[in-house]
Amino acid sequence: MAKKVKTNLMWGGRFDEGPDVLMESINASINFDKRLYKQDIEGSVAHANMLAKQGIIEFSEADLICEGLAKIRLEIEEGKFEFKPSLEDIHMNIEARLAELIGSTAGKLHTARSRNDQVALDFRMWVRDHIDIAISDLRKLIEAFINQADLNSDLIMPGFTHMQVAQPVSWSHHMMAFVEMFGRDLARFEDARRRLNECPLGGAALAGTSFPIDRHTTSKILGFDRPMANSIDSTSDRDFALEFLTCSAICATHLSRFSEELVIWSSAQFNFVEISERFSSGSSIMPQKKNPDAAELIRAKVSRINGSLVALLTTMKGLPLTYSKDMQEDKEQVFDAADTLLLSLRVMTGMLNELKPNKTNLEKAASVGFSTATDLADWLVKNIKIPFREAHEITGKLVKRAEENSCELKDLSLDDMQEANSLINKGVYSVLSVQNSVASRTSYGGTSPEEVRKQVLTWRKKLSL
Ligand code: ARG
Repeated sequence: MAKKVKTNLMWGGRFDEGPDVLMESINASINFDKRLYKQDIEGSVAHANMLAKQGIIEFSEADLICEGLAKIRLEIEEGKFEFKPSLEDIHMNIEARLAELIGSTAGKLHTARSRNDQVALDFRMWVRDHIDIAISDLRKLIEAFINQADLNSDLIMPGFTHMQVAQPVSWSHHMMAFVEMFGRDLARFEDARRRLNECPLGGAALAGTSFPIDRHTTSKILGFDRPMANSIDSTSDRDFALEFLTCSAICATHLSRFSEELVIWSSAQFNFVEISERFSSGSSIMPQKKNPDAAELIRAKVSRINGSLVALLTTMKGLPLTYSKDMQEDKEQVFDAADTLLLSLRVMTGMLNELKPNKTNLEKAASVGFSTATDLADWLVKNIKIPFREAHEITGKLVKRAEENSCELKDLSLDDMQEANSLINKGVYSVLSVQNSVASRTSYGGTSPEEVRKQVLTWRKKLSL
């Protein structure tokens, strides 16, 4: 039967008419899913070889298919491949080109396979590749934080709650807090990868296939731990993409929080750090300005990733099993989130490697705002044996007195101190310096140099740095 030229070569059998131009433009995904070409070809090679091994096609046919696919890969990588929106997506673009190159044998590749398990496979492998890249980039970022902690181990800065000076801490301690946060991100990506790593290929359209395929073989060749256990789930699951977006959103949130600190710290009012010129930009009207644009952009980028997560959750939430075309919308969200996250991670690592803390200003800021008031209260508890609540009250009075005198706690006279409590002696002054305050916080995970040193060593060992 003669077929109308304009119907789709892959599925046009029951159609008399080709698609409307508008239909083509809403339906085609090739403009973005061409990014899956490598995974698509890898999956097809594994599938073709398995079909031959199982006696479903001839070995010579599998060889011909694989040679054709290798040629296509080269054409794509050399920019010589013509992507056609009329062929909808990457899967059909590659198969159509294969038919041009090797003739009708190309048509055997799709035996015991559907685009439903094909796209589930390609996308899963793409996400897996990008989890691996995110993990490697995260390791570099964590190393940059550890180096910052190591290089400036004697530096003291104010610790904040409510953005008000709270207690002095060490710079290293603050850096190591981010190591913990990004360390959890790393573990989250590793964990998501473990759950992702089951192979959907062989699920076929949704119900499996009557051909004697070997899903264990393809799963192994493609680096998966096992085939997915349920063919319906194989074609309808997008949890791996949602998990990738979730991990990315949390990680980008951490990047955003540090960015916010960099923006504040690099302001003239704080002047805690200097961001290198290579990661700053100037103002076209105010010649004196050096703006922390990279930090601001990373702070903002998280919104795109959060948007992608919410978008895909919303796409998936009402979908009946198994495949619906709605799921084609998964890719742009994940591609954009991955690009955004990886760029943010790399820029932050670059910025952090060149970040210079300003020792004088950090230490000066650490000692204003009565940052050692808790140390004074603790001294009262330990030395004159009063309950902490009473000590808190006495210290509050002393803070008020210091405020009236426009001085710091350490500048109050012993008379002033004894007016608040007659048992206070000059031993109290030893706990009022920021150095002693930091050194005294030796509880597990605290800010004392030995404790922070332990954290640094643990992480260096954990990451084999
Ligand atoms: N381009 C499609 C997607 O990305 C491929 C799967 C199409 N499957 C189908 N039954 N129409 O989701």
